[in-house]
This record gives sequence, C-alpha cells and structure tokens, in this order.
Amino acid sequence: MATVQVKKLRRAHGPVARAIRSVKPAATFFREFVKHPGMIGSIIPSSRALVRAVLEDVDWANVRLFVEYGPGVGTFTRPILEKLPPDAMLIAIDTNAGFVRMLNAEIADYRFRAVHGSAAEVRRIIGELGHAEADYVLSGLPFSTLPAGVGDAIAAETERALRPGGQFLVYQYSNYVLKVLSAHFAQVVRDGEWRNIPPCKIFRAYKARALAKAA
Ligand SMILES: C[S@@+](CC[C@H](N)C(=O)[O-])C[C@H]1O[C@@H](n2cnc3c(N)ncnc32)[C@H](O)[C@@H]1O
Repeated sequence: MATVQVKKLRRAHGPVARAIRSVKPAATFFREFVKHPGMIGSIIPSSRALVRAVLEDVDWANVRLFVEYGPGVGTFTRPILEKLPPDAMLIAIDTNAGFVRMLNAEIADYRFRAVHGSAAEVRRIIGELGHAEADYVLSGLPFSTLPAGVGDAIAAETERALRPGGQFLVYQYSNYVLKVLSAHFAQVVRDGEWRNIPPCKIFRAYKARALAKAA
C-alpha cells in the first residue's frame, strides 16, 4: 500500500506534489552537512534558478561526456540528464558514499554513472569508464573549505581531463576559486545568480583550443 502511494506521488504534478518530493533530498542533504560541514560546504541544495543559469550556455548537441563533481542529492544531475543527447554520458563523482549510493539507486538511466571518489582522480575515473576527455566539467565543490592543496590539484587535473576548448563550470559563494582557476585555465569568465540563497557566483573556465599546425 505504502509503495503504491510513493509511486503515485512520484508521478503526480503540481506545487504540493513537487514540494513533498523535494523534502527527502533536502533532509538527506542537511543530515550529511551536519556530519561533514567542510566537505559539503552548504546547508541546502542549489536553487532551480542557479541550475538554469549555470547550464544555460552549454552546447548540448555537441556534448559526448559531461562530468559533475559533488552532485550531492542530484540537484544538477537530473536537469543535465534532461538535456543530454542520447549517445552522451554523465559521470558524477562524489567523496560521499551515501550520495553516490542514493543517486545510482534512484536514477535508472543508461547514460548515467555516479562514482565514489575524489574529483582529483577525474582522469583515472573517466578512463576506467572508456573516455579520454570531457567536453564539460561542472563543479559544486566548496573550494574555499577543501583541505590545503586539494582545490589546486582538482583544477590542474580538470584542465588535463577537458578537450581543447572544453569548459569547467564552477558555482561558488565566494571569489576564492578565481585565483585557483586563473592559474590553470586560458580564460575565466565571471557571472552570478542572485536568486539563490545565498547569492551565488558562477565561473566559466575555458581550456585553450589546440594551436593550428603550421602548413
Ligand atoms: C555544496 S555540495 C553541492 C551539492 C549539489 N551539487 C548542489 O548544488 O546542491 C558539495 C558536494 O561536494 C562533495 N565533495 C566534497 N569534496 C569533494 C571532492 N574532493 N571530490 C568530489 N566530491 C566532493 C560533497 O560530498 C558534496 O556532495
């Protein structure tokens, strides 16, 4: 009986059904924040306005591999899958084993894999899943509260994992990450979304395109 009700709720539409569906992920997120505040870095998941703003310029038709760091309860993961082409893949990497288990159990999509590990291992992880390079990497990591040196190692590895011209999309509450990104990427463009709690900064870091060979 309870299973039937849960299935009905998953299919139901409207503001009340949507509100009830969002309570469980938010509660899971808050529980994990209490256990690992430095690694999670935020008390609530990102807003829908932020998700839209971060993803609005992605060239979806040409995506073959999209990588997400720190998916948490999947706030960005599901909207990415809605836009991703049928022959592309989304690999989500999180250090929190509970989030990874939950995402793999709840998202039944042949294009998706959540992997337990650190973003600093991105090249090994995508290589083991049969990919040489990513078109986009999205990060929800709290760079300013990561252990010393970890943010820098992640930015360096991400630059190597991207194809020439690929983008590293980063959303953060502070400008701390700008220095880290500028040390590894050819260009960093800044943006913001003020309808998020708290207001959020967006950074788009571009890997240099390969130089044309001389004739
Ligand atoms: C602020 S939460 C972001 C959650 C979600 N993407 C959102 O926007 O609501 C940060 C996430 O990064 C994960 N994380 C922290 N350090 C990490 C690392 N080195 N590699 C991968 N994930 C990491 C945490 O476990 C957590 O799920």
